[in-house]
Amino acid sequence: MTDYESVCQVFKQQSAIDFIIPAGRANTLLYAFFKTLPEKSTIIFPEIMCPSPLFVADLAGVEAQLCDVDSSTGLLDIHALRRIVSENPKQVSAVLSVNLYGLRPNNHEIYDFCRANNITLIEDAAQGFDFESLSSDVDFSILSFGNKKTLDLGGGGLLLTKNKEIYQAVTAELTKVRVSDPAIILKLSQDYSALYYRFQEMESYRVGSQKCFAGFSSLFSDLYFPAKDTIDFGLLLARLRELPKDKEQRLFWVKRYNDLFARMKGFTLLDNLESQGSYWRYSVLIAEDKRRGFTDYIRDKGIDVSCWYPSLEKLGFNHRFLTVKQKSSFGESVLNFWLEDMTNEKFTYLETCIEAYIGS
Ligand SMILES: Cc1ncc(COP(=O)(O)O)c(C=O)c1O
Repeated sequence: MTDYESVCQVFKQQSAIDFIIPAGRANTLLYAFFKTLPEKSTIIFPEIMCPSPLFVADLAGVEAQLCDVDSSTGLLDIHALRRIVSENPKQVSAVLSVNLYGLRPNNHEIYDFCRANNITLIEDAAQGFDFESLSSDVDFSILSFGNKKTLDLGGGGLLLTKNKEIYQAVTAELTKVRVSDPAIILKLSQDYSALYYRFQEMESYRVGSQKCFAGFSSLFSDLYFPAKDTIDFGLLLARLRELPKDKEQRLFWVKRYNDLFARMKGFTLLDNLESQGSYWRYSVLIAEDKRRGFTDYIRDKGIDVSCWYPSLEKLGFNHRFLTVKQKSSFGESVLNFWLEDMTNEKFTYLETCIEAYIGS
């Protein structure tokens, strides 16, 4: 059996999946799926997520519609979704349900709603997944093996489904996708990262100043089509076998972070410890007007903390016809800490720094 066949076997044994499609990126698979839909089809995306799938939506000729997220978890809000679909004059074709920081929305409930409205539900599991829930109550799931992901292989993605029609349609569409030159991809990924981090650092959003990120889709188009034969399936197999242990380890640090921030004034814990999935990062909420001061202080101490993701609306992707906005904005108050390579020593240092900041 080849390594690729063994990888397929692992997924088929542990998850509700019959068909698997590999590609150079998760985004290549999303692009191919969007291409199977009529032009200008409406796709719903949560307003808090990695912006790159919205670029491929634009490239594929479909229209992105943002949906509010639950303010206590950052995950797609089913109530907002219901509202959008009922208010939308056009048929919504698909919903991208994102496992934000690895944690899964209640797709069971979302799927019932999608099926009743003839909408395809996609589980974007690029940031993390659980074998048991993966693809269990959606039409298909996508995984990413990109930079800094839980399963970082330096690139690659998989589409997983039990739906033969989707499998056949996406496979056919993928044969038409051109493959980009690796030298162009390298150059573009450096440019994209530079731009991405510039935006990431801009926390005091001024109206208009950031309403331009969404305009870069065609400039970066080559970035989304790397060759699929770059995936090292032997390495993926080994990493998949370590996954349950890795998940446990991440949860251990999440609980430590939770204990720490529960003791500290000024922080709100995310209401998601029970979500299915696997933590990619640890996130906690801080008052909007305190975030800048806190991150500057913590970074000054050499600790890597991120405020990503801002609402996609702030990056220039619009809500279009959605009028209802939730009062508290997740994107303005979220903080993320990395879980990889955490040690007792590093954690104690972090704890001391945060205690000193709160005490000061
Ligand atoms: C939620 C989400 N979806 C999709 C992607 C795209 O994955 P890839 O880089 O493999 O195209 C990413 C990562 O960038 C992501 O975080």
